[in-house]
Amino acid sequence: MSRKLYIKTYGCQMNVYDSERMSEALGGQGYVPTDRPEEADMILLNTCHIREKAAEKVYSELGRLKHLKAEKPDLKIGVAGCVAQAEGEEIMRRQPLVDLVVGPQSYHRLPQMEARLGSGAKVLDTDMPEDDKFEGLKGRTKAKRGPTAFLTVQEGCDKFCSFCVVPYTRGAEQSRPADRIMAEARELVEAGVREITLLGQNVNAYHGHAGDLAGLVRDLAGIDGLDRIRYTTSHPNDMDDALIAAHGEVPELMPYLHLPVQSGSDRILKAMNRKHTAESYLAIVERLRAARPDLLLSGDFIVGFPGETDADFEDTLALVRAVGYGQAYSFKYSARPGTPAMERKGQVDEAVKSDRLARLQALLAEQQAAAQEAMVGREVTVLFEKAGRMPGQLVGKSGHLQAVHAEADAALIGTIAPVRIAAAAPNSLKGELLERV
Ligand code: 5AD
Ligand code: SF4
Repeated sequence: MSRKLYIKTYGCQMNVYDSERMSEALGGQGYVPTDRPEEADMILLNTCHIREKAAEKVYSELGRLKHLKAEKPDLKIGVAGCVAQAEGEEIMRRQPLVDLVVGPQSYHRLPQMEARLGSGAKVLDTDMPEDDKFEGLKGRTKAKRGPTAFLTVQEGCDKFCSFCVVPYTRGAEQSRPADRIMAEARELVEAGVREITLLGQNVNAYHGHAGDLAGLVRDLAGIDGLDRIRYTTSHPNDMDDALIAAHGEVPELMPYLHLPVQSGSDRILKAMNRKHTAESYLAIVERLRAARPDLLLSGDFIVGFPGETDADFEDTLALVRAVGYGQAYSFKYSARPGTPAMERKGQVDEAVKSDRLARLQALLAEQQAAAQEAMVGREVTVLFEKAGRMPGQLVGKSGHLQAVHAEADAALIGTIAPVRIAAAAPNSLKGELLERV
């Protein structure tokens, strides 16, 4: 009889991809996925350590799982991801119901770990091996999939922004070899995927192809049936000439780019160890837009970094006004154990952080609404992903990654169709399907 696996995923898209691969790896041990924790034989929490709140959620969730373990003593509970890497054994001490702690670089050893769990042992593996962890995992499942997929091409970070735990939890920058990525992309396309988002903590620091990320994108664009390519997350300093050019030259590369800047103040950028200025960021944006004028930009921002003054914050608002974002994520600075920023003087008052965040988010929301409104009347292509909430409606994404609803036959799921945008809301667009020419 097959056993059931429930995985709860927190945090970024890289965790979403890792959860899929863990599920596939444990499929070989007879596990089938379930979305109901109460019927699971194994529960894995794939965790995020980026901000304090994210890490705390893990312990609350473990507390909630206590009653399931009491009812079913054979239930195995594991913690994977960045909290596992950062806190290791501490997790088992704080929450003895945990059987398995597995860091993000050890997922290829999950089948062996599972066997040890079966004999009643507790297992901890947070090593950071140098090899490509995905190489040790089986090929992707051949089952039919939805039209979009993530594909991790790079992991880790050497940038050491002073606020960030990623260089410690995910280790040094590592790129997967291009031939393996090409093979995996072909498998995904055979299984029905039309759009692939390449993932990496510093995806544009990808060096597994002689032509770096731009070279990989061009090769992927040559795969028959792969119509759309995206990549995330990028660092401004790795935005090289070839990649900027690819935005203008590769039609499969979608006109949307997430390019975090974090702050608009040079003083704060320096303290953050970002190694770029507001001006150099704006210059990159200008070059990207010269290559691809309709590029929609997204960003990440942190308010209340230690030492941030009102004037620094005004510089951030000024940068946002200068760029004009179509979408963005913004956060209050959260002091993370082991990071240099935590030791800095001038921690900002919580109330000041909240006030700055509200002002920044109001400006970003205004820009997003304007970007949505600007689509009205335009003709776009939509990759339909699934049925919408209203009967007869499908929902998909435009090239700019905006959600689009349109009345269309379910047979169009998984296809790309022309749509005229009729109305805009802050988070979605309504469109009318156009006849194909
Ligand atoms: N506090 C707040 N936000 C953070 N981020 C990373 N570390 C922190 C922190 N300590 C944000 C950055 C990054 C995004 C993934 O999370 O904006 O780009
Ligand atoms: Fe963290 Fe900076 Fe690396 Fe991004 S570039 S993962 S923010 S250290």
